Amino acid sequence: MPLPTTPTNDFLLGLPKAELHLHVEGTLEPDLKLRLARRNGVDIGQQSVEDVQATYQFTDLASFLAVYYPAMQVLVTEQDFYDLADAYLAKAATQGVKRAEIFFDPQAHTTRGISFATVISGYSRAAYEAAERHGIDAELIMCFLRDHTPESAHATLEEALPHKHRILGVGLDSDERGNPPALFAKTFATARENGLKLTMHCDIDQHNSIEHIRQVIEDIAVDRIDHGTNIVEDPALVKMVRDQSLGLTCCPLSNSFVSDDMKANEIINLLREGVKVTLNSDDPAYFGGYIGDNYQAFAQASGATTAEMVQIARNSFDVSWVSAERRADYHAMIDSYVQEFSA
Ligand code: HPA
Ligand code: ZN
Repeated sequence: MPLPTTPTNDFLLGLPKAELHLHVEGTLEPDLKLRLARRNGVDIGQQSVEDVQATYQFTDLASFLAVYYPAMQVLVTEQDFYDLADAYLAKAATQGVKRAEIFFDPQAHTTRGISFATVISGYSRAAYEAAERHGIDAELIMCFLRDHTPESAHATLEEALPHKHRILGVGLDSDERGNPPALFAKTFATARENGLKLTMHCDIDQHNSIEHIRQVIEDIAVDRIDHGTNIVEDPALVKMVRDQSLGLTCCPLSNSFVSDDMKANEIINLLREGVKVTLNSDDPAYFGGYIGDNYQAFAQASGATTAEMVQIARNSFDVSWVSAERRADYHAMIDSYVQEFSA
């Protein structure tokens, strides 16, 4: 029996996939936040899940970040960082994730007096155990906060280099307005010299978006772009991204919170033009869904066919930072999943 042309929700949930745009701090669910606050004696001024959810009022990137960073004060010990990452990985496993390249924001913790070693130890212990505990190969991508100084980013990289065997790559996140990629060129060049992969956020509908995307491609020479769907405004950028097979890590549910919609039309059109788009969850505890939920919401909004959704899952492994051998294993996983579902 052939697969239906329109994908079912069950099919999309179980489809083997890689998650490439996931901020681990954005997986802090209200119940875990309350539990960690109690465990560490931190007064967050909220007593119930409803209290926490009532603070989730955002209409753009800046208003989201204003809620997002203060929540992190409940993360204090190595065990807290482990518990946060492990809870995400357990959830991701139920939504078909086989490979996760996970962002973390060390400066959001070191600037409040938590040591870099505490942060990286907890996260990397969870990532290391993920294969056995959850059937996921997990790696870490360290992001710099672009609304802090380039000097702070560079100092963070230097602090991280003794731990570089625990880090796959570096990224750039937080508030993009007035904080162009080129400011961080030196730090990203040093990361590259140290064998790290490079990615940067080009958030949705930002001021100077097209110039920022040009900088990440031409000046920084990133290996991937986070979000980046504003390339639709410039055919020359679409061509560059396609010709270089640069992955775009799109996040439909996140887009619907920080901009006017999911950008499903832009994403499906880019897919149909041969751009390696992928779907991811960004900050699932805040944006109402994990990666499988994003696949489902996107399929519904865009009218993508089953074959196109399978292509998106394939893209996620194509642009993930794995060996060619491992990539072939993941493609085989997709093939057998599709075959089983057709039987
Ligand atoms: N953009 C910028 N910074 C972020 C994001 C994002 O999507 N999520 C968490 N920090
Ligand atoms: Zn993001």
